[in-house]
Amino acid sequence: MLSHKLEKRMANWQKNNLMRQRHIIGNRHYGDNIIHTAGKAHLNFASNDYLGLIQHPAINAAMIAGIKQYGIGSGSSAMVTGYFNEHDSIEREFAQWLGFDKTILFSSGYCANLGVMTALLNRDDTVISDKLCHASLLDGIQLSRAKHYRYQHNDVMHLQKIAAKVKPDMIVSESIFSMQGDIAPIADLMSIAERYQAGLVIDDAHGVGILGCDGRGASEHQSKLLCMVMPLGKAFNAMGAIVAGNGKIIESILQFSRSYRYSTALPPALCCALRATLKIIQEETWRLQALNDNIAFFNTEALVRKLPLVSTDKTPIRAIIIGDSQKTVWLQEQLIKQGICVAAIRAPTVQQNSTRLRISLNSLHTQAEIVYLLDKIFEYFL
Ligand SMILES: Cc1ncc(COP(=O)(O)O)c(C=O)c1O
Repeated sequence: MLSHKLEKRMANWQKNNLMRQRHIIGNRHYGDNIIHTAGKAHLNFASNDYLGLIQHPAINAAMIAGIKQYGIGSGSSAMVTGYFNEHDSIEREFAQWLGFDKTILFSSGYCANLGVMTALLNRDDTVISDKLCHASLLDGIQLSRAKHYRYQHNDVMHLQKIAAKVKPDMIVSESIFSMQGDIAPIADLMSIAERYQAGLVIDDAHGVGILGCDGRGASEHQSKLLCMVMPLGKAFNAMGAIVAGNGKIIESILQFSRSYRYSTALPPALCCALRATLKIIQEETWRLQALNDNIAFFNTEALVRKLPLVSTDKTPIRAIIIGDSQKTVWLQEQLIKQGICVAAIRAPTVQQNSTRLRISLNSLHTQAEIVYLLDKIFEYFL
């Protein structure tokens, strides 16, 4: 019986310390890194708001103005009556900022990756992806029924070996890997893609706003990419995802993507907020500078304490390997008691033996806060 099977699965999950809990978060304020949960204030090292845009007054004002103009919901899929002039504007503004022909706005990064993979691939195609690509990319590829091969994480030689054998139609990678915090060798991926005339798709969820020239992420390689997927829940601190590419690719995605067609479009007011955010990211360049300073400071201080960082690449995602789910959860709990909130990453998100603490840095963290965090991790790590 299904209920018995589920009970068994749940018992196993519990036994392996894999139960997840949701924490109720209280009000957030502009300009601080405090997160309120269980009636207590915690230093927030767990959110993906890398540029510290939460409660930004100009973004809030744009959202409120949008609600006054359009109300809350979009009313339907973009294919029916859910596509407003604000959706059109944000798509154009992203295209201009990134130097792509066209973009299309999905309601989430997960939907975008499902949509892109199923629209561009079918059972006659072959795709190779990095072994650590996000679940949404894997699910999209699986749904497309394309033949799928995976290369060892960031291992260009392995990719080359598989590509020579299977002649891929598409190669897929993230720019900054969400659980590693390391950067993909995009130039090498481009040259392999070129050699086999495969389309290169980059998920830039953690790179847009952060990497490249003025935070334009992987778009500096725009002419060599089939398309780029940019979920907007990280540096943009909102939701939705922009997919950028040439006119034909974006038109194909528009025509064939079921996760676009059969889902309600994002609220137009959110597009107003996103337009304000895009402007702020271009104008308030101190945010990216401060973030980069914090990343460099964190890496230096973590190395001084000999903490086993997964990578020292200059990205806001800093992961420290613990290697055991029970200890990882225990460490997270000790940090919470000390007023610090970090993420405990376990299977199936990462392999059982590589459980880790995942720390998200942002441009508002102070050096004193980073030192406090690292001192506490060091204290409990031993
Ligand atoms: C690399 C990557 N791709 C896609 C997604 C999904 O984006 P969203 O949260 O907008 O669905 C995420 C977010 O967790 C991500 O880290």
